[in-house]
Amino acid sequence: MASLPAHLANAPSDLPPNACPLPRTGQLAGLLTSIRDKNTNRGDFIFYSDRIIRLLVEEGLNHLPVVEKTVTTPTGLEYKGVGFEGKICGVSIMRAGESMEAGLRECCRAVRIGKILIQRDEETAQAKLFYAKLPDDIANRYCLLLDPMLATGGSAIKAIEVLIDHGVPQERIIFLNLVSCPEGLQAMYDVYPQVKIVTAWVDEKLNEQKYIVPGLGDFGDRYFTSN
Ligand code: URA
Repeated sequence: MASLPAHLANAPSDLPPNACPLPRTGQLAGLLTSIRDKNTNRGDFIFYSDRIIRLLVEEGLNHLPVVEKTVTTPTGLEYKGVGFEGKICGVSIMRAGESMEAGLRECCRAVRIGKILIQRDEETAQAKLFYAKLPDDIANRYCLLLDPMLATGGSAIKAIEVLIDHGVPQERIIFLNLVSCPEGLQAMYDVYPQVKIVTAWVDEKLNEQKYIVPGLGDFGDRYFTSN
């Protein structure tokens, strides 16, 4: 296995227990390097982001339960394996989270997908819910919450509050994200310690403008806006 430069080799060791960073492989570090590069054009940004999203979705699905299941193979033998249990749905935090919907659909063909729009209230500076369209039976599903960047955690915390108000228990929510930071992870753990956070990379910190450092700028702009 190719070894990484020391400064990239390990995620911070003091992360909250609900944080599940992806293993730091050469491929993952290379994909992240590509999307951080300001000279990466939009087509490549989408291509490399989508590869990371696919890894996140697969890892997120690993947190779902399986049950024993026996099948008969074409050779006529019985195979004692496992089957997937529990219905799932995706919920994207608009707009950037919508970039992750296709990756979820690639793994779960007929998955139901809901959307939540949260914006900062200019008067109170708090995250405010503007719109939510969720599957009717969301309370009976595991929920993969999608947002590529975890900065302060304000939007994700508000989105989880909405899911809980719709009957989804914390333990059935898995938050998938590409780049996080210790401040956002801690803020989420403080409020919702049972929500698992599958993150591709934990960056160093937030800056004064609440951007992730080193980060990659505004993910939604880079994914959805032509340059
Ligand atoms: N959202 C982004 O797109 N980038 C950041 O660095 C923080 C939040």
